[in-house]
Amino acid sequence: MQLLDIERRSDINAAVAVGQPGSGAARRVFIETYGCQMNVSDTELMMGVLKKAGFRRALALEDADVVLLNTCAIRERAEERVVGRLSQLSRVKRARPDLVLGVSGCMAKHLAEQLLDRLPYVDLVVGPDSYRRLPELIGEAAGNPALDVRLDRGEDYLELDPVRQEGTNAWITIMRGCDKFCTFCIVPYVRGRERSVPAGDLLRQVRLAASEGFQEVTLLGQTVNSYHDGESDFADLLKMVARVEGIRRIRFTSPHPSDFSDKLIGTIAEESKICRFIHLPVQSGSDRVLEAMKRTYSSGRYVDLVDRLRSAVPGLCLSTDVIVGFPGEDDSDFESTMALMRHVRYDSAFMFKYSPRKGTVAYREIPDTVPETEKSRRLQAVIAQQTGISGEINRRYVGRMQEVLVEGDARRGKGQAVGKSDGFKTVVFPRDGIRTNTFVDIRITDATSHTLIGRPEN
Ligand code: 5AD
Ligand code: SF4
Repeated sequence: MQLLDIERRSDINAAVAVGQPGSGAARRVFIETYGCQMNVSDTELMMGVLKKAGFRRALALEDADVVLLNTCAIRERAEERVVGRLSQLSRVKRARPDLVLGVSGCMAKHLAEQLLDRLPYVDLVVGPDSYRRLPELIGEAAGNPALDVRLDRGEDYLELDPVRQEGTNAWITIMRGCDKFCTFCIVPYVRGRERSVPAGDLLRQVRLAASEGFQEVTLLGQTVNSYHDGESDFADLLKMVARVEGIRRIRFTSPHPSDFSDKLIGTIAEESKICRFIHLPVQSGSDRVLEAMKRTYSSGRYVDLVDRLRSAVPGLCLSTDVIVGFPGEDDSDFESTMALMRHVRYDSAFMFKYSPRKGTVAYREIPDTVPETEKSRRLQAVIAQQTGISGEINRRYVGRMQEVLVEGDARRGKGQAVGKSDGFKTVVFPRDGIRTNTFVDIRITDATSHTLIGRPEN
């Protein structure tokens, strides 16, 4: 699924607070989230589980009795950052030995016991299918370190309601796990097999989110468009979600190119609530590399899909994920990726250096041949090219109107607000008392490769 790079994700500090009724002292939890949107959604789910068990919210780490890092394992760097953070937190723990320090999510599953061996100050290691047991595990961890990283094919967290973070978008996890086994990817090993949540429960969740005031939902899954609950496929589900009153925007991430049916394209074209933006990971433009990655499509089939999407959905914005330096990738393979990206002209892209992940097929069977310096050179080249393309595309918005869902104050620029357009562009404009979670029409006056800048206009 789409992974917002960990650097950008590290600011998502989900603070949960905990108080256990009947246990005397209130126990409060603080969760830091790393990695993709699925983890953001899982953090909200964990908060739901903990709240139900009587825990309450700690607004700051210093106030917490339990600190959890909800982690990512997709690249080595993601894990290194968490290890660094844990070592920082070990100092806090030295001062407060009763603090429970836990690791959840993909890295917990990936490293499991090794985490407890290598980092003896960690009390709790809990994998992505064990969140229901969190209260129990926190209790156990008070004495001895607790570990539960079993994968459970049946676990879809049905009927557990998340405690949503304030914001304008409600994440709805519609399927978990992945059956694709791309050779570079750790996800199938740490998240287990694919399973879909029944549409009935999802609609209940969407209605609940709407009743809480959310006007936008994002349907999440590792391969979101392979959703099937036995009766409804992803296109059916989108249609049902579009009927929910109060929901004005529907997004989803991340689809797999091979599971993009004509029916789904038709549904996106027909349903005006479905945003004109698709994140469509390509990974490489070289057929040889795509084959070695086991992506199950060729560059030609991918481009054909893009063409069909664009002719069915005028004005569609696209983003992608690209890996450079996959084992065996030579100059001409890399040039094919550059050429595909020039051809498709994505609005934006997440670009990564290949990172060998223990347990994957590529790690076991394909030597990591591309030297680090060459990976870096390719990454710089692909980023530079994409920055140019994104800037050109964004500048064409100058003078046009965009309907923006207001997310809040902009981080930079005093008195500025930030929001998203239908095409998922970040738009910055003067706050002028405009309320968060409202839609506002913005005239675009300027643009960079990352942002549109404008002012409200009626
Ligand atoms: N190395 C580099 N990038 C990876 N991704 C997944 N696994 C790896 C890896 N081993 C990227 C893919 C995927 C995104 C979420 O992360 O591009 O689409
Ligand atoms: Fe990983 Fe491939 Fe599954 Fe995406 S489709 S989660 S890249 S194995």
